[in-house]
Amino acid sequence: MKKKLIAANWKMNGSLQANEALTRGLIAGLGAPTCEVALCVPAVYLAQMQDLLSDGTMSLGAQDISEHEAGAYTGEISTTMLREFGVRYVIVGHSERRQYHAESDALVARKVQRALAGGITPIVCVGETLAQREAGQTVEVVKRQLAAVIHANGHCISEIVVAYEPVWAIGTGKTASAEQAQQVHAVLRLQLQAATAHAERVPIVYGGSMNAANAAELLAQADIDGGLVGGASLKVQDFLSIVSCAAQ
Ligand code: 13P
Repeated sequence: MKKKLIAANWKMNGSLQANEALTRGLIAGLGAPTCEVALCVPAVYLAQMQDLLSDGTMSLGAQDISEHEAGAYTGEISTTMLREFGVRYVIVGHSERRQYHAESDALVARKVQRALAGGITPIVCVGETLAQREAGQTVEVVKRQLAAVIHANGHCISEIVVAYEPVWAIGTGKTASAEQAQQVHAVLRLQLQAATAHAERVPIVYGGSMNAANAAELLAQADIDGGLVGGASLKVQDFLSIVSCAAQ
């Protein structure tokens, strides 16, 4: 069985002091985890986190990248820069960026290309809004979002991580049921299978109010290969509990 991936998305949270306390707490509680654990942190803390994660127990991740390699793009951060800080993963196309920064499917696909070319694993987020779910468009929406990434990246698609994050479940305390999540993950797996012979290798992780109480059931589903955890990743015990569910 392939190792599960539990990635924390700290979003725009943290401080030098809080990051250190949280990370030291996690390292003390993790021991030698049997799943992959990554912390996706605000870019300004990458240097601090590179240092704190130097023992290699957890991997370092960022929350966004530029589609460009370098140049006159004020405020943007390149893959090459992230690499200098030991970044292994980058979240791309999170719904908060699609919503608040108008990131299109095409832009997300180009960012994925840039990450792959720079040797960083993109965690590509897809997911439907509540209105889209209620209109019966869930499958159509997630397939369209993933199709753009597949189209732009060809056989390299086997090197990505996909995160299914139903927008209505993010930060709301409403989790997709294990069945609802598994159904969408199975659709995404089939779509990947049509694009690459190595679809089994692509982790498809779930995100959206994953917590210590619901993680075990979600992670027990056939096509759920891990989690992308927001709020619960900011609390040592909650995040450790989720990791321990994935390590079984
Ligand atoms: P919550 O776990 O806070 O719902 O956030 C999920 C998420 O958006 C992770 O990227």
